[in-house]
Amino acid sequence: MDFSNFSEQSPAHNDYRSDTFTTPSLSMVQALAKATLGDAVYNEDKSTIELENKVAGLAGKEAGLYCVSGTLSNQIALRTNLVQPPFSVLCDFRGHVYVHEAGGLSTLSQAMVQPIKPKNDRYLTLKDDILPNFIPDDGEIHGAPTKVISLENTLHGMIFPIDEIKKISKFCKANDVKLHLDGARLWNASVETGISIKEYCSYFDSVSLCLSKTLGAPIGSVLVSDKKFINKANHFKKQNGGGIRQSGLLAVMAIAAIDENLSKLKRTHELAKEVGELCKKHEIYLEHPVETNFVFVDLKKNKINPKTLVEFANKYNIKAYSGRIAFHYQISDESFEAVKKLLVELKEYAKKNPYEGDEQLTFYSNIEE
Ligand SMILES: Cc1ncc(COP(=O)(O)O)c(C=O)c1O
Repeated sequence: MDFSNFSEQSPAHNDYRSDTFTTPSLSMVQALAKATLGDAVYNEDKSTIELENKVAGLAGKEAGLYCVSGTLSNQIALRTNLVQPPFSVLCDFRGHVYVHEAGGLSTLSQAMVQPIKPKNDRYLTLKDDILPNFIPDDGEIHGAPTKVISLENTLHGMIFPIDEIKKISKFCKANDVKLHLDGARLWNASVETGISIKEYCSYFDSVSLCLSKTLGAPIGSVLVSDKKFINKANHFKKQNGGGIRQSGLLAVMAIAAIDENLSKLKRTHELAKEVGELCKKHEIYLEHPVETNFVFVDLKKNKINPKTLVEFANKYNIKAYSGRIAFHYQISDESFEAVKKLLVELKEYAKKNPYEGDEQLTFYSNIEE
C-alpha cells in the first residue's frame, strides 16, 4: 500500500483557521493494521475499550466513553448531570457548550443557560461571577435553579487558573451542584502549566477531552467520569445516534495521536507566543493574552477589514478567516514565517486604510474569494 500521502507535508501546514484541520499522520494510519474489529455499541471492541481506559486513566476517573465529537460528549455529559427541569446551566458567555453547540442545551437537556461575562474578561470567578448569579434550589419558584456549572479550559487559548477551579469545585460540592469541564484543549493547559490532566479532572464530575483538536486524531472525544455516570451517558450517546460500530479503527488512530502528539504541543504554544510578542512590538492589538496555541487579533480595534485579512492571507498562501490564528503541530516553518509577515503588513495597511465597518466573516466564508 502507498502511504506517501501520509508521510509528506500535511495539507494543514499553512492552515491557521483552527487546530482541527490537522490531518492523520503516517503512524496513525499504520496503527489501523492493529485495530480490533469488534462492535463498540455492544462494548465488544478491544481498541475502543483500550482508548477509553487510557484516557480515563490519564484523567484519574473510573471510566471513559468514546464519542464522535466534543459536541456530543459535552452535551450528553450535561444531560447526564441534569435530572428534572426546571434547571439552569451556568457558564462563560463565550462557552462552546452555549455558543457553538447548536442550542443543544435547550433541546437535549431542556436547560436554561446562564451565560456570564467574567468581570476580569478572562475566566469566571466564584466571588465576582458565580455567586452573584447562582440560583439556589431553595423553594423559590420563579427561577430555574443552577444545577450545573460548566467551565472550559482552555477557553480561547486562555488557561483557567487552578486555584479558582478549586474554589468553584468546593462550592459545587457543598451546594449539590455538578461541575462539568469542556476540556477540549485541557491537554494544552496541562502541558503549559505542568499540572496533570488527573489533577485538573479531580475537581470535576465530568470532563470532555477532545482528540481531534490539538492532538490531531481524525475523530472524537472521550468523556470521563465515574462508571455509573458513563453508563447513563452511553444511553444518551445512543439516543443521539452516536453509537459507532467498528470504532476500533478510529480508537487506534486516537491512541497514536495521544502517544505521539502530546509532547508536540509545547512547540505550538511557543509559536503562538512568538507571534503574540511580534504583535506587541508592532502594536497589533489582541483580544486576549496568548497562553497556549491561539492568538486572537482584535480586528475591530486594529481597524482591519476581515476581507483584507483573507486577501492578504491568500497572497501569502495562508489559510485564515478571522482574527483567530490557531497553531497546531503540523504548521510548517515556511508558513510560520509567512504568517508573521502577513500580520505586520496587514497592520501597516490598516493604519493607512482604517476599516470602520462591522462585517465579520464566518467559518463558512469562502477563503478563496
Ligand atoms: C472548546 C471546544 N469545545 C468543544 C468543541 C466541539 O468539538 P467538535 O467539533 O468535535 O464537536 C470545540 C470545537 O472546536 C471546542 O473548541
